[in-house]
Amino acid sequence: MCGIVGYVGGRPCRDLLIAGLEKLEYRGYDSAGLSLLDNGRIDSVRAVGNLSNLRAAVAAEQERGGAVAVAEAEATIGLAHTRWATHGRVTEENAHPHSDEQGDVHIVLNGIVENHSELRRELRSEGHEFSSETDAEIVAHLIEKHYAGDLTAAVRAAFAELRGHYAFVAMHVAHPDELVGARNECPLVLGLGEGETFLASAIPAFLRETRTVMRIENGEIVTLTPGGVTVTSADGEPRERDIEEVTWDEDEAERGGYPTFMMKEIHEQPDAVAETITDRLPEVDSVDLSELKLTPEQAAEVRRIVIVACGTSYHAGLTGRYAIETWARIPVEMDVASEYRYRDPVVGPGDLVIGITQSGETADTLAAMRLARERGAHVLGITNVMGSQATQDADSVLFTRAGLEIGVAATKTFTSQVAAIYLLGLWLAQARDALPRERIAELIAELKALPRKVDETIEGTDAQVRAIARSHHEGRFFLYLGRHIGLPVCLEGALKMKEISYIPSDAYAAGEMKHGPIALLDETTPVVCVATDSPVLEKVLSNVAEVRARGADVIAIATEGSDIVAESADQTLFVPRTDWILQPILAVIPLQLLAYHTARMLGLNVDQPRNLAKTVTVE
Ligand code: AGP
Repeated sequence: MCGIVGYVGGRPCRDLLIAGLEKLEYRGYDSAGLSLLDNGRIDSVRAVGNLSNLRAAVAAEQERGGAVAVAEAEATIGLAHTRWATHGRVTEENAHPHSDEQGDVHIVLNGIVENHSELRRELRSEGHEFSSETDAEIVAHLIEKHYAGDLTAAVRAAFAELRGHYAFVAMHVAHPDELVGARNECPLVLGLGEGETFLASAIPAFLRETRTVMRIENGEIVTLTPGGVTVTSADGEPRERDIEEVTWDEDEAERGGYPTFMMKEIHEQPDAVAETITDRLPEVDSVDLSELKLTPEQAAEVRRIVIVACGTSYHAGLTGRYAIETWARIPVEMDVASEYRYRDPVVGPGDLVIGITQSGETADTLAAMRLARERGAHVLGITNVMGSQATQDADSVLFTRAGLEIGVAATKTFTSQVAAIYLLGLWLAQARDALPRERIAELIAELKALPRKVDETIEGTDAQVRAIARSHHEGRFFLYLGRHIGLPVCLEGALKMKEISYIPSDAYAAGEMKHGPIALLDETTPVVCVATDSPVLEKVLSNVAEVRARGADVIAIATEGSDIVAESADQTLFVPRTDWILQPILAVIPLQLLAYHTARMLGLNVDQPRNLAKTVTVE
């Protein structure tokens, strides 16, 4: 995720833009930059690192009298960006804003342009030269190519050529009173002030300046001037958008209007999953993980995979094991990192060891990765944090792109990790010719639909989950049951319940229930069963019947339209249909919400549960 801010109005805006970026730093912080237009020239300053580096770079320009529009700070129109690298390394050249060769058009972009390679080729053949490795730079060149005096028309023409998941804003040297933004899936919101307009990825970026807000929808283009805004569809049809007054206080603003960071992060999951998968699926039937050091030829030779991780990341690994074994037919072993590192594991050349850690700093996971590397395995780290220790301790790195997660209970990093492992599973299958191209294409289509389905799941289950939490929040124990891909979902649901509500909870393979845990059940026990469509659904339903026979209250998670589950359970939470192996990414969401609402009804601090830390850098 990246953050974008734009301003057009009557006030000098350099410091307003930097203040806006500060509020968006949670969206990315590997580099930042801004462009200002003043007296017929646009100047940019960009810097690698966090915002203090950008401030220092601006001060240096001021000192030496360079980048005049930035140094003088009198410009009343500008753009700014904080980056979380997707395309291209973390360098000053790759930091935004980007421009065409002449520097007439400047843009900032959040998201990913999927067809960047083909557009780059086309533009190159027409004589365009690029100065960065980013997909975003292409947008500046495209706008320049289509520009014939009308910036909105040029943005519209460029927008029509782009595929992907992005929001951007453009500024042109010949239009000192105009910014043009466009949105396709990534957020874009306007702040309307007296004779001035802001545009940003999220409201906190301008909340200190105005509370009057207008949200831009997918497929819309917006033209901003100091006096107002014009919203049109991609075809140029005028659109009406409601204006809202935001009443949040400072703290609520930090949380994007949600009562807690955890709820905000639950709602960021569609975006986090989309960012993680989109540009790695450039073709309808192939996965591109060329960022890995492991080549497809080496992948074809891998004889065994071992996944090591802790907590929620371990559950993501368990989910991935089913996908990798089913699709790529490679045996996968799992271990919690704190056990693995001390059991003198048999590991070496020919093994692929995957360390999963959202923070990239978990001591046990890092130690397990180092051990496997010393013994000759290829170590692949899956992490959310650029520059983290895991990126040093791995041979290859696959980044999730969930943006900063503040809530101690992992939510969006979990679904992004699962999405990343699905990509890896398909890539391994592709490298080993283990799946027909048509099956890979089917799964890719399903993967691409997941962000929308995650959104539908949040919206479609929240109210019902809240009611269930109301009935059970004073319970003394929750049991979670599932089989196959349902089992890691249960383990994750039970962990969420423990860590934020402090209610004892356990997760079991449903088939194991009669070997012990069934003794725990009575009429007061809520039993959460993951019963999404799968080849083992009938078996799960037999276990559900055993539970109900003991009087326990069964809350089932089922695939939409699955009446047979609804008839077997006391309450059923439906999630959208997808390929059954992909179902965990949807099925976990009601369980995140159940833990969340239960904890909130108990009056607990879900963002900072007792005794826990976001990053566990000790053994
Ligand atoms: C998740 O809700 C927990 N806070 C915890 O289990 C976490 O997943 C674990 O500590 C691993 O962290 P990592 O992904 O940063 O390595």
